[in-house]
Amino acid sequence: MTVPRAALVTLAADDTDAFWRAAHAFDQRDIPPEAAVFETRDGTADLFGTPTNDANEISGHSTAISFARDYGISDAFLEFANIALLHSEPQRFRLIYRLKRRLRAEPHLLSIASDPDVANARALQRSVRRDMHKMTAFVRFRQIVADGAPLFVAWFEPDHHIVAATAPFFMRRFANMRWSILTPRRSAHWDLEHLVIGDGAARTDAPIGDPIEDVWRTYYANIFNPARLKVQAMRTEMPQKYWRNLPEAELIAPLVQSARRRAQSMIAAPPTVTRRTMPRAHVERELYGSECDTSELEMQKLATPRAAPEATLQALAVEETACRRCPLFAPATQVVPGQGAARARLMFVGEQPGDQEDIAGQPFVGPAGKVFNIALERVGIDRAACFVTNAVKHFKFEPRGKRRLHKKPNTSEIDHCRWWLDSERTLVRPELIIAMGATAAHGILGKTITVSSVRGQIQALNDREHLLVTVHPSYLLRLTDENEKRIQWRAFLADLAAAKTWLDEHSAHADAIS
Ligand code: URA
Repeated sequence: MTVPRAALVTLAADDTDAFWRAAHAFDQRDIPPEAAVFETRDGTADLFGTPTNDANEISGHSTAISFARDYGISDAFLEFANIALLHSEPQRFRLIYRLKRRLRAEPHLLSIASDPDVANARALQRSVRRDMHKMTAFVRFRQIVADGAPLFVAWFEPDHHIVAATAPFFMRRFANMRWSILTPRRSAHWDLEHLVIGDGAARTDAPIGDPIEDVWRTYYANIFNPARLKVQAMRTEMPQKYWRNLPEAELIAPLVQSARRRAQSMIAAPPTVTRRTMPRAHVERELYGSECDTSELEMQKLATPRAAPEATLQALAVEETACRRCPLFAPATQVVPGQGAARARLMFVGEQPGDQEDIAGQPFVGPAGKVFNIALERVGIDRAACFVTNAVKHFKFEPRGKRRLHKKPNTSEIDHCRWWLDSERTLVRPELIIAMGATAAHGILGKTITVSSVRGQIQALNDREHLLVTVHPSYLLRLTDENEKRIQWRAFLADLAAAKTWLDEHSAHADAIS
């Protein structure tokens, strides 16, 4: 009878390179998967292995070979397995080792979804990806001062070993902040130059609260729309275990409890009267209903806007940095939030940031922005008094050599990004929105229209907002016929002038547009 040879390796739970080195060494000794034992330093062992007494310990860093690819593993398997390996399931190492060995004889194995090993590994991969997504969405930094400078510290409890793999996301998104993310098993630190992955920490090592939390709470209360409440979706997206780290979470339960009543009273309510002109008691009755009890009233007072609109737009911009609603966030350098006067009467909506906007993080600063600025100047609109934004907040492009060629966002991307555009509209409350191009019009209306069919007309969207659709400045840049260019440029100026006249005639506020 042949006695199976056995081997043991001890590695850090998230050290995928060490795993591949060990797997390669085991493979060379023809160690069968059932005899391979992968033990992690945090104490979780693959208990079903059969190590010999003289088990062969392979140090995680004993070999100079650093890329698993050097071990003859395909890119597709490596990419997929490296995610699955971060799962906290102790059997994950043996499973991937078994797949590695089987792939030699069954090169198309990964495409057989019904294979139990493939199905198990895919399930691990999906679960790790979900956990990584949650981390990018639910980490909340608290500001402290360390070594005389601001340091942003967050506490997070992931399910899997994802901290090192997810930290580069935070490095890119918060490159200009010094931050630390503390978790029970690992910590990640960014000092503006280096990303360091260290040991775990205790919850008490993280600060408990700071003024930023007020901004999060106010923002959340502002964007909370009871008529759109989907409790199940909220629970799936924001599992309760994360709530205790989210400053806005304390609002969720009371808002959910009172949402139905608020939604019904919103439907039944007469057309809105500007709150500033209503006596305070009347405002409270309008908002909360006369029958609501005191504690609910207190809760909902908490949920009404308290901070300045600038603060809530800032919080919205921070929230946008974690957007994963569509895949456009991944290749883009950064999100480009709307910019401008927080109480602007006039909002401009473009399509999406271009190459230069993606780098600057600001809308309309590239070639189309130059045309836009000249047009505003010609008709006497002060850009600083307006709010300028885009229907889609990430740059969509196609790499072509060193260049990034603009690609039009599709309907699904526009629809996913409406969440942000709607939030900007809710916060700024413009009286007139100028949609520049079909994408912008879709972002506002939620449906596709032809620009030429409505161009230049001012239509009411609701009791406050109005819409004027015109062409996009890039359209003017693309025209090659000089005569057509002149005609379209004049028509664009005429649309902007019509908007200015309309605002002057409907001058409800003294501030805003010059
Ligand atoms: N085009 C747009 O639609 N928006 C920008 O911000 C820049 C170019």
